[in-house]
Amino acid sequence: MPRTKVLKVTDIEKDRAALDQAAALLREGKLVAIPTETVYGLAANALDPQAAHAIYTAKGRPGDNPLIVHVSDLSQIPPLVKTVPDALRRLAEAFWPGPMTVIMEKSDKIPPATSGGLETVAIRMPSHPVARELIRRSGVPLAAPSANLSGSPSPTTAQHCIDDLTGRVDAIVDGGECEVGVESTVLTLCTDPPSVLRPGAVTLEMLRQVIPEMTLDPGVFEHLSDDCKVASPGMKYKHYSPKARVVLVRGDLAQFGRFVASQKQDFGILCFEEDAPHFWGRRCITYGHENDPASQAHRLFDALRQVDKEGLGMVYVRISDIEGIGQAVYNRLLRAAGFDVILL
Ligand code: TXA
Ligand code: MG
Repeated sequence: MPRTKVLKVTDIEKDRAALDQAAALLREGKLVAIPTETVYGLAANALDPQAAHAIYTAKGRPGDNPLIVHVSDLSQIPPLVKTVPDALRRLAEAFWPGPMTVIMEKSDKIPPATSGGLETVAIRMPSHPVARELIRRSGVPLAAPSANLSGSPSPTTAQHCIDDLTGRVDAIVDGGECEVGVESTVLTLCTDPPSVLRPGAVTLEMLRQVIPEMTLDPGVFEHLSDDCKVASPGMKYKHYSPKARVVLVRGDLAQFGRFVASQKQDFGILCFEEDAPHFWGRRCITYGHENDPASQAHRLFDALRQVDKEGLGMVYVRISDIEGIGQAVYNRLLRAAGFDVILL
């Protein structure tokens, strides 16, 4: 087991030595958790099959779940794909660098270990300055799934990575809290029409301004049966889940208050910050503000981790509107809850 170094980077210029160490490890085929604007990623050389394979081992990730390949410059993309679709140029212009991942047909340069054995590859250009600098310095595209143990909530702070991956990876670059808080929007250009497989901060409405025919894959909000062929392997795994049983409850604050008051068993509450005073004396964790889905996204995974830290066996989550980035929040919560939703 490697000793895990924690390398703090708050300033690209001042913390050059830490960046050099992290980039050197990546060039040697080692594993380094890195900050991005969405969540922390567990990075390794995407073109090195052994390095990619080591990511699966460190995370305990099923081998058929492909990794996202991160680039810092558009010129890195043509060698990685069969052809560059015209739609990619338009999407890149509008949303890169940023929280969008695009699936295209892969070239032979992408090893099967990185693509989970698929003939396609997912590519993203992150906007986080530390991620971009590390891709640039390592000189290769970086494969990076979220830097959590497979099945647990994605990490949005270096501490989350330390909790999950100490002794399993070579280094963790601490670049502070992730701004967005939920993983990137994943869309595929390999279907006609193109479709969104995982909602994120680049919303369906935003994508339709560039590609009007963009659709939403049914697996985003529906529970697909086990024998159903999924568009994205990640869809079929129970995700983002705390150990506690999670149940989503949709209704206004008064309805939610009456509902929890009628429950007899031991449980905790996950609600909005302005709700918390109503549940004084109960075990209550908050995730952002009701009318601000971006604040919910920012807090969501830390709140889900908090549920386990407090040792809750069961938690009721108040949910409200599902608009914009709220779709991404709802998609993650549905998976944490195993699609258990109560409508009031
Ligand atoms: O924001 C993000 O996307 C973060 C940061 C680190 O960039 N990364 C991330 O990676 O969330 P990961 O591996 O946790 O999620 C990638 C998702 C998985 O559900 C995977 O199944 C899907 O994207 N995916 C990757 N390549 C694919 C492909 N070729 N075809 C279909 N789905 C793919
Ligand atoms: Mg993940």
